Amino acid sequence: MRSSILAAAGLLAIGAHASSAIANACVKPNCMNDQSANQVANNFKELISAYTNTAADNYLTTDFTDYSDGVSTLINSGCPNGPATLGVATFNSRDAFKAGQGSQPNITFEILNVWHNCDVVTLRWRGPMPNPDAASAPNPQTQVIGIIVLETKFNGYANAQPFLIQTVYSEFNSGSWLYDLGVFVPNCPGQVAERACAA
Ligand SMILES: *[C@@H]1O[C@H](CO)[C@@H](O)[C@H](O)[C@H]1NC(C)=O
Repeated sequence: MRSSILAAAGLLAIGAHASSAIANACVKPNCMNDQSANQVANNFKELISAYTNTAADNYLTTDFTDYSDGVSTLINSGCPNGPATLGVATFNSRDAFKAGQGSQPNITFEILNVWHNCDVVTLRWRGPMPNPDAASAPNPQTQVIGIIVLETKFNGYANAQPFLIQTVYSEFNSGSWLYDLGVFVPNCPGQVAERACAA
């Protein structure tokens, strides 16, 4: 009797566990798993650190859109009336991204964290060194950290890329980057004076 009560309790526990697992399960069809999310994150990393047009064609939807005031600020060299408008898409198609990113040097891009839900991958990254040759960089290289949200479109599991990147929201420490590029003079008189004396 005692053992059957325990057995029944065990069954109830299993039943409760199973139903809570179902309640917490992602119910969206074609919900991405960790592996697909990491694939999407690494695809974006490749577009920044080892760019090729083939990779852009393989990883991005044709209606790809990239929002990044950080990138627009770099394009503008920090100038308020530069060619890129803040608050709107930096690249409004895959072709526009290819033209822009394809003409940039590859940069170091270290993935620090990856989170995802069914169709959105969020990542935190560290890099870049705008000029990989520290000796010839205009200024000492500072750290740049950013956060990127990648909205994806399901492309079918039969494809090598089951999830294509459709929309990017990317922001990062463009102030640090502009300093590294020698565009911004920081407001720290002691350090500026030291560099001036050494030069
Ligand atoms: C970036 O890396 C890719 C892959 O290694 C290479 O094909 C491409 O030429 C590089 N781009 C630049 C601007 O160096």
